[in-house]
Amino acid sequence: MTATSTSPEITIEFHESPVSDADRIKALETPGFGKIFTDHMVLARWTADKGWHDAKVTPRRPLELDPASAVLHYAQEIFEGMKAYKADDGRILLFRPEENARRFAQSAARMAMPAVPEELFLKAVEELVRVDKNWIPSGDASLYLRPFMFANEAFLGVRPAQEYIFCIIASPVGAYFKGGAKAVSLWVETTYTRAAAGGTGAAKCGGNYAASLVAQAEAAKKDCDQVVFLDAAEHRWVEELGGMNVFFVMNDGSVVTPPLGGTILPGITRASVIVLAKEKGLRVDERPYSFEEWQADAASGKLVEAFACGTAAVLAGIGLVRHAAGEFKVGDGQTGKLTTELRQQLVSLQKGVTNDERGWTRRVL
Ligand SMILES: Cc1ncc(COP(=O)(O)O)c(C=O)c1O
Repeated sequence: MTATSTSPEITIEFHESPVSDADRIKALETPGFGKIFTDHMVLARWTADKGWHDAKVTPRRPLELDPASAVLHYAQEIFEGMKAYKADDGRILLFRPEENARRFAQSAARMAMPAVPEELFLKAVEELVRVDKNWIPSGDASLYLRPFMFANEAFLGVRPAQEYIFCIIASPVGAYFKGGAKAVSLWVETTYTRAAAGGTGAAKCGGNYAASLVAQAEAAKKDCDQVVFLDAAEHRWVEELGGMNVFFVMNDGSVVTPPLGGTILPGITRASVIVLAKEKGLRVDERPYSFEEWQADAASGKLVEAFACGTAAVLAGIGLVRHAAGEFKVGDGQTGKLTTELRQQLVSLQKGVTNDERGWTRRVL
């Protein structure tokens, strides 16, 4: 490892033996999702006396933790998910990264962790993307970035830790769902819930995902792609999927999505879809939508499309909904017209194909 250059707050240590060009090019042909990783990562430390320090881009390697490290016991951990896209003309773009920085700080506040200043977050993301630029695939694939932070104090008392590590890793990714643009199937979970009022549902913390896995496994057993959670109090109101927000498209042209009330993640794709839908002149209702209403609307034909959305999958049409008492199709069971249009619009913005009038993209290279 050799330190070869320094930016104002982030040291860059280049890998001495990165993956060879031939192996990297081969790996980028079929990246899958979250299976391969770039040569470098970001690391920074926080201590109560020094605040954030020692921020660097450094060769990716295993982290050594004390067995008493607080994260291993009390799960003080948060993360983000975002992507770097390669435009056809070679520009490298991030999509609304300031929103990820903001949400990371909000997640940190909920978990009694120190905030990573927005400037440090953005700079760290950009430096890693620049250093690992050869790992950014072109075409439909992109470089998934995973900033995360965890408590790393060796102490077994239950209180906010006094030491933290902020890290970013990067992984070239292709389509999130194996079926590509094919509509996905959902399992409606009525036993396990994801988040309750006053809990951590709006924070992107690892614990939320740990709590969702048994339901996701149930969905897989029922041959469904994803689980959809209902609210914890009444098991009645649609909340979100294990890793995506959800939208319903009605035959009068209006769009419904569950409101942000602290129990669902405020998705950046969700926020973007709301803007794009409103710009198309559609009415967007952020309101509670019950599972009974969903079934009735699907049966009557009022519901013409439904889709899930998030950074990983962008927009995915929902074709089939399975539940304890049966199953039903949404529309004709295929990805709908509005879903396809909105997906295309978002992808074109992210890939720099269409003009970015809203200032949503940030050029890194
Ligand atoms: C639980 C959950 N909901 C929604 C989303 C969508 O959020 P975003 O659009 O910011 O990726 C995600 C993905 O990160 C998620 O994990």
